[in-house]
Amino acid sequence: MPKLTVNDIDVRGKRVFLRVDYNVPMVEKDGQMVIDDDTRIKETIPTLELLLGKGARLILAAHLGRPKGQREPTMSLRPVAAKLADMIHRPVAFADDCIGEKVEKTAALLQPGDILLLENVRYYNEEEANDPVFAEKLAKVADVYVNDAFGAGHRAHASTEGVARVVARRGGHCAAGLLMERELKFLGDELQSPARPFVVILGGAKVSDKIAVIDRLLEKADVMLIGGAMAYTFKLAQGLKVGKSLVEPDKTDLAQQAIAKAKVRNVKLLLPTDNIVATPRDTGRLNKKGKKVIELVDHRVNTEQNIPDNEEGVDIGPASAKAFSDAIRSAKTILWNGPMGIFEDPRFADGTFAVAKAVAETTKSNGAKSIIGGGDSVKALNQSGLGSQVTFMSTGGGASLEFLEGKALPGVAALEDR
Ligand code: 3PG
Ligand code: MG
Repeated sequence: MPKLTVNDIDVRGKRVFLRVDYNVPMVEKDGQMVIDDDTRIKETIPTLELLLGKGARLILAAHLGRPKGQREPTMSLRPVAAKLADMIHRPVAFADDCIGEKVEKTAALLQPGDILLLENVRYYNEEEANDPVFAEKLAKVADVYVNDAFGAGHRAHASTEGVARVVARRGGHCAAGLLMERELKFLGDELQSPARPFVVILGGAKVSDKIAVIDRLLEKADVMLIGGAMAYTFKLAQGLKVGKSLVEPDKTDLAQQAIAKAKVRNVKLLLPTDNIVATPRDTGRLNKKGKKVIELVDHRVNTEQNIPDNEEGVDIGPASAKAFSDAIRSAKTILWNGPMGIFEDPRFADGTFAVAKAVAETTKSNGAKSIIGGGDSVKALNQSGLGSQVTFMSTGGGASLEFLEGKALPGVAALEDR
């Protein structure tokens, strides 16, 4: 790790400004916002405990949702304070703002071992604008800056980047938390020279979202499996018919380039050879956003390479699931990002779950390292009850993708070098 970490610094009696990614999914229950998945909170606890054990006074900052500078009550971090207190078995004070005199007074009164969580930093537009004056205001309560928010590491915002600059200018330390360190280790170092065969599984909706990752990983992988709606753009690029499938016709050139690159680099690129297809049908209803509600009916296995005009691909088919699983079983290193189909609908989840199963089994029986690149693939693994059977699951969605693309993360760049 080229960056300073919490293990390297003395924080006794110091006010540590700890940026975490507590952007957790919330659902409304009886008029209250309730946390739907606490993984991102749980994963920061080792960092909190380490700092508290070293006698730090902790001030936690985070964002929730995209309130765009408004005090949107459904995006308050208050429920997170209560949840964190439950999980860490200590009181967690909550400030209903993230800057200002009241916050400064509360922070000044903190004793070593105390925790204060600040309100959503995105209640201010200055956060996303990385406004230097706002960063100064946040930094008023910081002797030391720690970033454990890997999931927000791709954002150059005031609390992820600006504050670090202010603290460093004052001569204070800026270090990575333990979660940040783990994420960079697995998504970075471990994939630097992976044990082979290295099998990469990519899915999700759009080639345009993933092309940079595909391109980069074609330089490392032995096998690349492509599923999800993205595969239909590849099919189109090969002159096949995709019916009503979700597709990006203007991105077929990118798919063709990827196919060509795989050939040159001798990477075995597997695309689905069969699919689950369904017929989209207009229900005549509109959703809350005023968009037509389309139902998918009459699903079936399509063993043809072409998808008929009136049907839509919604998952990889059983033969593809088997071919993908066989390829995965040979791996010593696995990287998986993106589902194989619309797995949220149980009718179209078999392909994604087959991949999840093969990844978990290969981790166990073949001693493979399996690294899951965050977002929907983590959700799918957890849904299939296999989350604990892989080597590493990232807490980052967009951040893990950008990092895998080889981009520097501003939240990491701002930290102090070793
Ligand atoms: C995420 O959930 O992707 C991170 O918390 C960053 O949030 P953002 O995409 O709204 O910047
Ligand atoms: Mg995001």
